[in-house]
Amino acid sequence: MNFRKRTAHCGELRPSDAGRTVVLNGWVNARRDYGSIVFIDLRDREGVTQVVLDATDNPELAANLKDVRSEWVLWVEGAVRMRENPNPKIPTGLVEIVVRDAGVINRSEVPPFEIVDDLQTNEELRLQYRYLDLRRPTIQQKLLMRSRLASVTREYFSAEGFAEVETPVLTRSTPEGARDYLVPSRVNKGRFYALPQSPQLFKQLLMVSGFDRYMQIVKVFRDEDLRADRQPEFTQIDIEMSFVEQSDIMAMTERYVQHVWKRLLDIDLDLGFRQVTFADAMNTYGSDKPDLRYGLPIVDVTDYAASSSFVVFKSAADAGHVVKALRIPDAASFSRKQIDELTDLAKTHGAGGLPYLKLVQGEVSGSFSKNLPPDEATTLLSACSAADGDLVLFAVGEWERACTILGALRIEAARRLDLVSKTTTPYSMLWITEFPLLEHDPEEQRWVARHHPFTSPMTEDLHLLESNPGAIRARAYDLVMNGYEAAGGSVRIHDSTVQQRMFDLIGMSVEEANAKFGFLLKALKYGAPPHGGIAFGFDRLAMVLAGTNNIRDVIAFPKTTSGLSLMDGCPSDVDDKQLAELGIALRQ
Ligand code: AMO
Repeated sequence: MNFRKRTAHCGELRPSDAGRTVVLNGWVNARRDYGSIVFIDLRDREGVTQVVLDATDNPELAANLKDVRSEWVLWVEGAVRMRENPNPKIPTGLVEIVVRDAGVINRSEVPPFEIVDDLQTNEELRLQYRYLDLRRPTIQQKLLMRSRLASVTREYFSAEGFAEVETPVLTRSTPEGARDYLVPSRVNKGRFYALPQSPQLFKQLLMVSGFDRYMQIVKVFRDEDLRADRQPEFTQIDIEMSFVEQSDIMAMTERYVQHVWKRLLDIDLDLGFRQVTFADAMNTYGSDKPDLRYGLPIVDVTDYAASSSFVVFKSAADAGHVVKALRIPDAASFSRKQIDELTDLAKTHGAGGLPYLKLVQGEVSGSFSKNLPPDEATTLLSACSAADGDLVLFAVGEWERACTILGALRIEAARRLDLVSKTTTPYSMLWITEFPLLEHDPEEQRWVARHHPFTSPMTEDLHLLESNPGAIRARAYDLVMNGYEAAGGSVRIHDSTVQQRMFDLIGMSVEEANAKFGFLLKALKYGAPPHGGIAFGFDRLAMVLAGTNNIRDVIAFPKTTSGLSLMDGCPSDVDDKQLAELGIALRQ
């Protein structure tokens, strides 16, 4: 062994340790050489400690350590003493170690970027050298928080009587929702397993088996377009309960969140999170995952539009469409360029343009102010509660689209006005309920399940199943945290006849339903208890707890938005022999 084992971590020494002799192991964070005296900041997972080497007292050791550079690995033995020049920025800043003996455990090449918290290097290089990026304390802290989250989660659910049961990773392909990742079977050539998009069916089957309360921290896989809060493989805290109703699942979920916030952040959250229906959330915030750390509500001005002289408004109202408005306080000063940028954003969400009005010192201006008589403009602006200095943006069209356009503008306005940092509510927890059960897929010309096809309709809407499918609400709920969908779940259908009707509704023939989900339909006939559950995006929960907007910050080895791992270069080519064994030939 070429080193002495540590007796202390680099983050733990304090003035009360003065006089103790300790051994530290760690990486050189920085080295300052003043000739007769050398300072080395030694770093490990727990922190940084200053080490002092007096070259006059210890010339041989100083000679041995003269080549030491950043990121070399050392062991150091010495006495703890009070520092002459304390560093208040670090917890060990009052003490230092006077080196008595030390040695190089391993050398390091010059790293491609500095191992510092405020790193400006591009993310590509960081991901290529992820093991070095992970040495940076801010990233380590986030991953350690994630690790604590996993422990607290297991403790909590175990105490509440949930059993952790593992479900298969090689499963049957049942494409609904995102695309599956497929795994070819060598033994059964031409056949494929699919990696699970969620353990949904298995957890329902576990309820049929009588497990009563199930949870699993589980990796799942979805081949979908990636974003800052989406990864192709991610982790869920998957939960299912028997003999419960929606309110029981929601209450249990809230208690879990309260427990996590207390344990990890020492923050007391009140139970009884706000609940908003999908329709209200869309109407007021233009999103089914609104960030309520700030206001900026949307208002409906279709009634005013119906008698408007502005033809765009009037004809929308006449066509049964809506006109919605978003008042942005103190934003009348937005420049032409800024408004153009907002217009481009509105267009990416399907707007034809962005009508707007500004109110400055009693004067109305804006894209269509010339089309409005002054009294009409005043009425419209007061319907929007606009005050002097405000900017009001409008969206015209089909209900969900108009809401979505203003929802996107609401988020952008909050970003530009930096509303999140000015908030007095650091965490906004919100349930969205009463989601539509189905949505219409214009390409396939059929109804598809909005959550998944095992979600139960609201009992009071069951009669609409065949007559007005679009109006049926689901017993589904999402938990939204700071504008992220942190968890989603539903009460399930536990009656095989209703399940079959649901498959009919989404255009799945009896044969197709039997081929894909026959095992579930059969299982539901053997005494299925009423059941329901929820799944958290574990990475998203960790992200909100760690206060970051980038999911990659809480995943040790994440993929880029094009699904690549830059460090090990996957996905990669495979050789012909491997493909031949699987009976696979690539198409040109
Ligand atoms: P759902 O599809 O809503 O529900 O997924 C549950 C939660 O998983 C997270 N999530 C993601 N996180 C990171 N990257 C992704 N690509 C990604 N996709 C989803 C979200 C989401 O709320 N079986 C159901 C749950 C149930 O009904 O019990 C399901 O998977 O935070």
